[in-house]
Formats: sequence, C-alpha cells, structure tokens
Amino acid sequence: MDKIWSGLVEHRRRSLATTIADLFQTDPSRFQTFSCETDGLLLDFSKTALDETGLNALVELAEQAGLGARIQEMFRGEAINVTEGRAVLHTALRAPGGAEVRVDDEDIMPQIHETLQRMEQFAQALRRGEVSGSTGAQFTDVVNIGIGGSDLGPVMATLALAPYCDGPRCHFVSNVDGADITASLAGLNPETTLVIIASKSFTTTETMTNAATALSWLHTALGEGANQHLVAVSTALDKTAEMGIPQERVFGFADWVGGRYSLWGPVGLPILIAVGRDNFRAMLGGAAAMDQHFKTADLRHNLPVLLALVGIWHSNICGYATRAILPYEQRLARLPAYLQQLDMESNGKGVTLEGHRVSRTSGPIVWGEPGTNGQHAFYQLLHQGTQVVPAEFLIGAEGHEPELSHQHDLLKANCLAQSEALMRGRSAEQARELAVSRGIADADLDRMTAHLTFPGNRPSVTLAYPRLTPFVLGQIIALYEHRVFTEGTIWGINSFDQWGVELGKELAVDLLPLIQGGTDSSKDGSTLGLVAKLTAPNPET
Ligand code: F6P
Repeated sequence: MDKIWSGLVEHRRRSLATTIADLFQTDPSRFQTFSCETDGLLLDFSKTALDETGLNALVELAEQAGLGARIQEMFRGEAINVTEGRAVLHTALRAPGGAEVRVDDEDIMPQIHETLQRMEQFAQALRRGEVSGSTGAQFTDVVNIGIGGSDLGPVMATLALAPYCDGPRCHFVSNVDGADITASLAGLNPETTLVIIASKSFTTTETMTNAATALSWLHTALGEGANQHLVAVSTALDKTAEMGIPQERVFGFADWVGGRYSLWGPVGLPILIAVGRDNFRAMLGGAAAMDQHFKTADLRHNLPVLLALVGIWHSNICGYATRAILPYEQRLARLPAYLQQLDMESNGKGVTLEGHRVSRTSGPIVWGEPGTNGQHAFYQLLHQGTQVVPAEFLIGAEGHEPELSHQHDLLKANCLAQSEALMRGRSAEQARELAVSRGIADADLDRMTAHLTFPGNRPSVTLAYPRLTPFVLGQIIALYEHRVFTEGTIWGINSFDQWGVELGKELAVDLLPLIQGGTDSSKDGSTLGLVAKLTAPNPET
C-alpha cells in the first residue's frame, strides 16, 4: 500500500501543474466520467483535481485495504468492532423482509421485524389517538430525551421530513443544561405529553438527569399516573425495568447497533410517530437500496466508495484538514451536526485496529450550515481564505413548496454558482478589469485588484436528488455511513467504538463534588481557579 500512497503523492505533485477548470477544457465529458448515480441520487465529483490516474490509484488503495472483504464481513455480522467484540449490523435494521442475518449462529431478523412491528403498532395507535395518558386525554406531544446518537438522528430526520410530519408534535431534549428541558416542557401539558427516554446504555448522565426532571414534572401533575406517560428505548432492559417502565412500553435493541447508527430501529421511534409507518418504511427502503448498491457495485462505480476516495484524496493527499457539509435545503439544517457525530466519533482515532499509531491523518473535521445562509457568513473564507476547505453541496431538483418554485430556482442557482465560483475563481487580470469598470482610482488599482482576486481551483462535490423524500433521506444517510466505514477501512481503524469520549466523562464525575463544595488538592491550578470563580457567591443574587 505504501507504494500506492507515494504514487498518489507524486500524482498530486504533477496535478498541481493544471487546474480543475483546465481539466474540463481538456475533457468535455469530464462530468460523465467523474459522476455516479444510483436510484436517482447523483454524486458529481468532477469539480475536484482527480483524473483517471489518480482515481484508479485510489480504487487500488481501497482494494489493497481489503474493502471488498470488509464490506461482506460487516453485512454478514462478523464482529468487526474488535475493541468491543461486537458485530456492526445497523444495516440489518433496514434489511428487507426475507433477508437472513446471523449473529452467533442465530438469525436476528425475526427479532428485528417483531420489534419494528411493535414500534409501528404503538406509533400508529398513538397517531390515531388510541393511546392515551393517565387521565384519558390523547397524546398531542412527544418529548424525546436522549443525547448523541439517541438524539441527533431523530432530530435531523424529523426536521428533514417536516412535510411528512402529521403525527403528534415531537420535541427533543439532549443537553444537561436545564435550559434545554425547561424550554421544551414550557407550554406542554403533562396530561397530553408522552416522554421517550432514549439511551442505548441507560446510564448516560445527561439523559438520566433530564429523565428524572421530566418524571418529576409528570409526577407533580399526574401522581402515580406518570408512568403511563413513559416509553423507554434501550439495550439495557434490566435498567428500564428498574425505572418501573412497563415492558410493553420498552423497545429494546441489541448491542450490535452503534449509537450513531441507531436511527433505523427503536431510536427512530419519534421519526415513526411523526411521519407514520409508510414514510418510515420508505426511509428504511432508501437506506436498504444504498446498502444493496454498496454491497454489489464495483468500487469504481460505488457511490459511498467514491465519496470516501474523494475524502481520502482531499485529507491525506492534498492535506485539507476539514470538510464542509453545505445542504441547500433548509430542512437539512441538522445534517452537519448529525454527520459530525457520524464521521468524527467514528473516524477521529489515532490508533489502528491492531493498536498501533496510524501512519497518516485520519478523520477530518466536519462542519457546515445550510446554504444560502452560510454564503452570508463563512463563505468568505471558503473563497479567499488561506486554507482550502473541500465543500460538499446537497441540492434537490424540487422543493416541497410548488407555489414557491421561483425561490427553489434561486436556491439551485446559488448552489451551482458557489461550486463554480470555488473552482473558477477570478484571475488578477479579471479583477483589475472589474476594478477599472467600477471606477477605482489608478492609485488604488493594485491594492483593489488583490482584494477582488479569487484564487479558485477549490474543490467541491455535489449530491443531487429529485426531492427530499423519506426514501432519499434514507439513501443520503446510508451513503454517509458507508463512506465513513470505507475511509476507516483504508486508514485501518475501527469506526465503531468511541473510547475518546470516556476520559472527560470520568473527570466530570470526579469534579462534581468539588463544584458542590468539596476539596481536591490533586487538581491543577487552572481547574481550581475556575472552580473558585464558578462557585463564588454571586453578589447580584
Ligand atoms: O458519549 C458518547 C456516546 O456514548 C455516544 O456514542 C452515544 O450516541 C451517546 O453517548 C449516547 O449514549 P446512550 O445512547 O447510551 O445514552
């Protein structure tokens, strides 16, 4: 593999002699060669500096990393999450009926389908107003309490699918900051509110603390009836029982579903309640279609693999440290946050599967905001800053507001304009002409020419789809999941554990007594100084 890596670096060095815009001049069919489509979802990666030689080398890299075999191992249910000794089977949660997946010699599909059916029956009954609270009133609102993977997926998806949301209103509480739950419960009636406590482990401090607050809110209003307003989603059935949540209100899942990959099963209950059975199934269908594509398409024509290879090219070969997720779709406003967890918690690792230091940069920093808003904020840096940020645009051919199609036209024009501007830039010559046409005085011409010049040659990819339907959302999420897995495989890391979140959690447990008046001489001066500042009596209260 070292030879392929060094070949790629050499290739990059040679490619610096040309620009992305030049590549289109020399190859008018570049778009056809460097784009790929499956089930209506198109990935255009022609606005990158990749050419055939570079792409072939990257495909070879994936082959040498054993990607083909790793994909089959994942889908077969082998324990590829080696540090936790677990299979990785979020794909089974969306596998079509009739599929068989075995873990420890047991077919897990009957259990998955049974749980899905229970979820659907519960959600549909809730939507029809047949499930009521302790006073007999119908549930109008659902509050999901969870954090990380037990929050971001449902938050992102219910917003993305807002045009399909016709069930009870869903609210989400994640932060241990009391402001979060206070704002969510404000204006809600305990009699008509259902609380879902979603936690894979059922031990997460934030979730358990917020759950206790919600329970006391329910208790104050409803007394013993409070329990009728609770649902739990977890792998820890002993802990949900300890909390007194009746079994029929508990939706369990197995430890081979990673938190950040869990919205396809019980963690997705709020989505199911919001959009109903058919739309939820359509979302699973979109993901299953992407799974099938990932499993069967050759690597050169495989959307998740191509997206991953572009990522590797940009982070490892070009040295770009971040990637921006820029959905031109207001309803995908939480997609960047969702992908931050998916990507950075999966691939932000410094050791290989074997426990050795990784020899190259692994997961990049992921960030972003919807366009066009970002254009009026941070795009300045994207266009003229000293750091190159590969951009990932997402855009639908249509929106959900046919009466406002002229606004959607503006959205599309802006999205395409940005990728064109990043690539094309504005030369010093063009900038000077512009300055002259604007009547800039001769004395200021050089200075203003510099300011009006855009370096260009900045790469981007664009994901284009017909419309943001449940099916398309499923495709997009599964695409990114498999991209993350592919990149992790090439870096030789385990994309399915998250040891890096542990230390801070442990220290917070340590620090709480100190915040609450204790002493601890082992702490550093900064920590002690800040504790003093944060615990000093406030003269204003
Ligand atoms: O702290 C990180 C993490 O473990 C994530 O991986 C997970 O999605 C989140 O916390 C919530 O965990 P749980 O679902 O067990 O409450």
